Amino acid sequence: MSRTGWPYPRVLAHRGAGHLAPENTLAALRCGWQRGFRAVEFDVMLSADEVPVLMHDPVFGRTVRAPGAVAATPASELVRLDAGRWFAPEFAGEPVPTLAAVLDYCHAHGIFMNIEIKPAPGHEKRTGQVVALHVAHYCEDAGGRAPAPLLSSFSATALTEARVYAPGVARGLLVGEVPHDWQAQLQDLQAQTLHCDHRPLDRGRVQAIKAHGVGLFCYTVNDVGRARELLDWGIDAFCTDRIDLIGPDFAA
Ligand code: G3P
Ligand code: MG
Repeated sequence: MSRTGWPYPRVLAHRGAGHLAPENTLAALRCGWQRGFRAVEFDVMLSADEVPVLMHDPVFGRTVRAPGAVAATPASELVRLDAGRWFAPEFAGEPVPTLAAVLDYCHAHGIFMNIEIKPAPGHEKRTGQVVALHVAHYCEDAGGRAPAPLLSSFSATALTEARVYAPGVARGLLVGEVPHDWQAQLQDLQAQTLHCDHRPLDRGRVQAIKAHGVGLFCYTVNDVGRARELLDWGIDAFCTDRIDLIGPDFAA
């Protein structure tokens, strides 16, 4: 499993279980677990009262069929919202989970977490701080008895705060296309890994990045042939929605 710059699992279930269960829910984590996944990516945002919850979109409507916004809703209301019915009737009533509940689940099941800090616009600093504090406490309590998580974010502000509030937790910088100054950005943030959209990537870019010994993670790879190609080029890891096609041992 261990590779230069990447001491983590190599195939992660995106948003918990990708296409097989409602994203960013405990039902998704259970689904991934049942399919053998011991490594997940999920998104975390703050409620109005600064409780971290799993959510991708800052505004309701896609996964939560109600008016409103995450950052304007207290956690006591958020956890009563239905985050499952949009996906399929059998998931009706599946709640929005708190990060605390998901940390407990992953600890109990030995699951590696790539925790994406996903601030609602304007909440970058506080989201980085609060999520990092939760994760730092989790690591302290786990005392090495659970896989060390990896924080990541598209927000440099959130990552900067995470470095201060959870200095012992590794951080990855999320980008779309790899920018020309990726090394300087990683250096500025003291981030250990680079997470990029796989679509604009080519073999030369992968090899140039890996020549620097940096961990390289790709999102979101849903085609078996493309996954094989990226691994052949030398990427370290990727997340996928298609956990029905790409198993946890695909990169073994
Ligand atoms: O962390 C990788 C990936 O999840 C980033 O994109 O929009 O699915 O959170 P998104
Ligand atoms: Mg994500």
